[in-house]
Amino acid sequence: MTREITFLPSGRVCDIETNETVLAACLRAGLTPVYGCSNGNCGSCKARLTSGDIDQVRHHDFVLTSPEKMEGYFLMCANRALTDIDVEADVTQSPDDIPVQDIETKVKSVEYLDPQVVKLHLQTPRSRRLRFISGQSVMLTIGDDIQTSMPIASCPCDDRNLHFHIPDIPGDAFSEKVFSGQLAPRDRVQLHGPKTGNFYLDHKDERHSLILCWHIGFAPIVSLMEHAMSLDIERGLYLHRFSPTPDRQYLSNLCRSWSDAYENIHTELVADRVTLLSTVEECTQVLARVASRYPDLSNFNIYVAGPPNFVEAAESVFSGLGLTAEEIKTHVDWLGVLE
Ligand code: FES
Repeated sequence: MTREITFLPSGRVCDIETNETVLAACLRAGLTPVYGCSNGNCGSCKARLTSGDIDQVRHHDFVLTSPEKMEGYFLMCANRALTDIDVEADVTQSPDDIPVQDIETKVKSVEYLDPQVVKLHLQTPRSRRLRFISGQSVMLTIGDDIQTSMPIASCPCDDRNLHFHIPDIPGDAFSEKVFSGQLAPRDRVQLHGPKTGNFYLDHKDERHSLILCWHIGFAPIVSLMEHAMSLDIERGLYLHRFSPTPDRQYLSNLCRSWSDAYENIHTELVADRVTLLSTVEECTQVLARVASRYPDLSNFNIYVAGPPNFVEAAESVFSGLGLTAEEIKTHVDWLGVLE
């Protein structure tokens, strides 16, 4: 049975399922609460119940004092709602407020998506999950010095299971470690982040999204799209994927399944070939062709993820059409070396 949580003083409202904790419901709804361990240890998710009934579903080591309990304080990660509830808690943080975190993760799996792209699935400890917003990146380190910066390719609604798309880059130590089979389940990978920037999903924004990505620039887009789907966002999401091999784009079935399942999601594998050697002028030509199919972009945000020339060309095309820097959200990716 679904009940409702109203957060004060923001007035934000979200649904909560019978066996869901208040924190889990909050994250599923795309809200950005203050929290830490998700496990009843740190006390960061302490909030105050001002109306309705809750039920503790998990033992917690963090100790609430008797006066705090009398005043209605509780841990959002350890309680569910028995009725509609009103809760005093700040759930409207900006992505810039999310702290940089250092977490030792373990490899859960290494899966080839394509001969040149591997999906690396990392899992955090139960008590140290990663707070992030879709579209953000983190630094990954194997051992002392094998390091890369990567966008997260999974939904923040699952803050424990993190996916990354690792490209095959000869000469890059991280990529070679993955593609040589030297990274196996249970190996440790240190995570540092997330990084801030303007490339993230703002679930409160009502504008449509025109999304342009090149090759593994698709990785942060997976995070954006899965997050949008988990939030039931109804505005239009128009995705155009570019590639050096347009007829063989990895996870193309995933794109098709999104547009088959959701009326507001439109995906296209663009036939124009774009390579790392494509100049800004060449990228401008193909991007302008896509832009010309959208005669009115006044109610759009643009998301662009790809190598520097591709992103520079997109900024030029769409700023020329009147979009502001705030409306053009960019993620620059040089085959795993991110800026
Ligand atoms: S998030 Fe740490 S106690 Fe709830």
